[in-house]
Amino acid sequence: MRWEVVEDAAALSNRAAHLLLDTVEQSPRTVLGLPTGRTPEGMYREVARNCRDPRCFGSVETFNLDEYVGIPLDHPGSYSSYMWTHLFSHVEVDRERIHIPLGDPERLSERFPGLSFEEALERECRDYEEEIRAAGGLDLTFLGLGRNGHIAFNEPGTPFVSRTHVIELTESTRRANAGCFPDREVPRRAMTMGIATIVDSKRIVLLATGGSKAEAVRRLASGEIGEDFPASALHRHPDVLVLTDREAAGGVEMHSASMLRPEGATPHPR
Ligand code: GLP
Repeated sequence: MRWEVVEDAAALSNRAAHLLLDTVEQSPRTVLGLPTGRTPEGMYREVARNCRDPRCFGSVETFNLDEYVGIPLDHPGSYSSYMWTHLFSHVEVDRERIHIPLGDPERLSERFPGLSFEEALERECRDYEEEIRAAGGLDLTFLGLGRNGHIAFNEPGTPFVSRTHVIELTESTRRANAGCFPDREVPRRAMTMGIATIVDSKRIVLLATGGSKAEAVRRLASGEIGEDFPASALHRHPDVLVLTDREAAGGVEMHSASMLRPEGATPHPR
C-alpha cells in the first residue's frame, strides 16, 4: 500500500483526475471502477475540464461501484443521476460502455419480466459480475472511504470474499448520505460490488479528504486486517495508492508518520 498526502481537497482532485486521465491516455480501452460521494466530485470536475478532446474517453468502459435499491434511475439521489451530473454529461463516453447496477424497481421488472423484485435484484447482481468479467475485469478502480471504513457500500462485517450483492445500509451511512436526498429519506438498501470484486481490480486508488475521515484513515494505516473494517481488505492487494489530504491524514501523522511520503500540493504535470 502506497500513501500520498497532498495539501487539500483541490490538490487531491487534481492528482486523482490526472491519474485517471494518464491511464486512459496510455490505454484507451481501460476498464474503470468509479465511486460516488462528495469526495470524488472534484476529481470528476477536473477530468471533465481536462477531457475536451472527444476521443479522450472514447473506448473506456466504466463500472460504478454501487447504487441505491428502490428509487427510480432519475431520482436526484440516485448514483446514476450523480454520474450524469458530475461526469458523463461532460465527456464523450459511449452509453453502451457505462455500467451502473440497476436498483430501479420499474426498470428491473422490464429487464427481468416474470421475476419478483427480490429475484430480479439477485439476477442483476449476478449479471453485473458477469459484465465486469466479460469486459476483462477492472483495470483501475477509485474508491471513497466511509467514516466506518466502508468501501463502496460494503459495510463493516461484509465478508472479504463477497461479490456484487444487496446490502442493508447502516443508520450512520444513511445519515451521512442524507444531504443528497431532498426529503432526507435515504433508501434502506443498496447494491454494491463486493469486496472481492473490488480487490480483483488491477489497480486501486482510495481517496479520502477532510477531518471526518481521519479516524478511518488512521485505522487503515494501523495495518489491522479484519472484516469489521472493510477498507482493510486493501492491505492484501499489491497495487493500492491511498491518496489523502492533510486533514484526513491528521491521525496518521500522529500514529505512524513513517508510513507517509507527503508529496505536497504540486499539481501533477500533464
Ligand atoms: C457512500 C458511497 C461510498 C463513498 C462513501 C463516502 O456511502 N456509497 O462509495 O465512498 O459514501 O462518501 P463521501 O465521499 O461523500 O464521504
